[in-house]
Amino acid sequence: MDKFVIRGGNPLLGTIKVSGAKNSALPCMAAAILTADEVILENIPQVRDIETERKLLTSMGAEVELGYGRAQHRTSIQCAVLSDPVAKYEIVKTMRASSLVLGPLIARTGIARVAMPGGCAIGGRPIDLHIKALEQMGATITYDHGYLEARSPQNGEGRLKGTHIVFDKITVTGTEDILMAATLAEGETILENCAREPEVTDLAALLIAMGASIDGAGTSTIRVQGVENLHGARYRINPDRIEAGTFLIAGAITGGDLMVDCCDPAHLGSLIAKLEQAGVRLDLGTDSIRVRSEGAGGSGSTALKAVDISTEEYPGFPTDMQAQFMALATQSEGTSTITENIFENRFMHVNELIRMGANITVTGRTATVRGKSPLQSAAVMCSDLRASAALVLAALVADGESILDRVYHIDRGYERLEEKLRGVGAQIRRMGDVFGRK
Ligand code: EPU
Repeated sequence: MDKFVIRGGNPLLGTIKVSGAKNSALPCMAAAILTADEVILENIPQVRDIETERKLLTSMGAEVELGYGRAQHRTSIQCAVLSDPVAKYEIVKTMRASSLVLGPLIARTGIARVAMPGGCAIGGRPIDLHIKALEQMGATITYDHGYLEARSPQNGEGRLKGTHIVFDKITVTGTEDILMAATLAEGETILENCAREPEVTDLAALLIAMGASIDGAGTSTIRVQGVENLHGARYRINPDRIEAGTFLIAGAITGGDLMVDCCDPAHLGSLIAKLEQAGVRLDLGTDSIRVRSEGAGGSGSTALKAVDISTEEYPGFPTDMQAQFMALATQSEGTSTITENIFENRFMHVNELIRMGANITVTGRTATVRGKSPLQSAAVMCSDLRASAALVLAALVADGESILDRVYHIDRGYERLEEKLRGVGAQIRRMGDVFGRK
């Protein structure tokens, strides 16, 4: 298993580029199931979750072709024949977003078999809201041996029916899954209490390019007029706002001067507001943000200041930035409270940060961080994608050399993180398993 070795203490200086959004690319790849034509996606990040989705689509009969050389971020997908419309457990267990194929599969082929995802490190993560919405559209759902089988009306022969769906709770992939199913349904589907995340808007833009009729993506009510067929399209995935946000904090925490390039500042509003409140200087361009700070070395007006955050659905503060912001809070003067409202178990970075010298206590869904604490290097364990990013940030300012184990969690969602950070002055290297596998 790969590890990262990080020596802290260097301010990050220069320009760092943001890749395409993993959480847009995943539903957009699933959307290719909806047509027999070729769908070409550009700006696809080269991360493990995308690799997993390629495997998933290929296992169902899709032809997936990767670009190479200068076109390495392009992927073309053609689902001319879906000979095996099954999302197998071996693949689903490694990536919960696999449930995104449920809606498109049943809409296109009338039948879908998807392994039920178990819980994951950050919480239970059920898909009951996807299932309830599909049932409202006329699907019949049965379960056997850990698999869910969904059939469209008339035992898989008929189309799903447009209807009025109100999600009990805001769900990002739930909104995306049902939006895809609705594009090929009979009549109009009205979706209420939808997720407003930019990734939903990204998916809707691709679906519209494929011939879907969708109104209101990015708001809480989306209307879809079902069509009989969708066609191929070429679409460029938007930049990853969470990767961009992670780099903004990397610049701020290390006392750097960093240009975060190829991002969309409009998608980072709540994080930008909190960073400014914390005393970080940000200059917004059209597709870049320059971040400057004195880091933990600042004092008086240049000191990093404690701020409170509370995670919410978009446009609120993203749960996917909570762990990284907590790393910053350890270097800020004063007491910050950080409340996690989206997932029940997303504080796994806390104990590792404490092992590095942070002063954090957790009560229920709220962590109280008392700063600033000098951090010490340590051997720490990555647990999920964003928790691991927080440990990288902490290690960048820790005194000495930290070793981060299980970096495959980072590889799921950050493209070549160590190379990008090294390019702006971080001392970070990847180390293979020294002793090899037994
Ligand atoms: N929920 C239900 N029932 C459902 C679906 C969701 O109760 O049927 C609950 C969840 O348990 C959770 C809340 O609703 O408490 C929100 O979950 P949501 O469905 O919005 O999360 P998701 O769609 O599974 C996506 C991202 C996550 C991100 C969340 C929240 C993708 C592939 N994943 O997950 O990204 O944290 O939205 O913004 O888009 C990550 O990239 O590290 C990551 C975990």
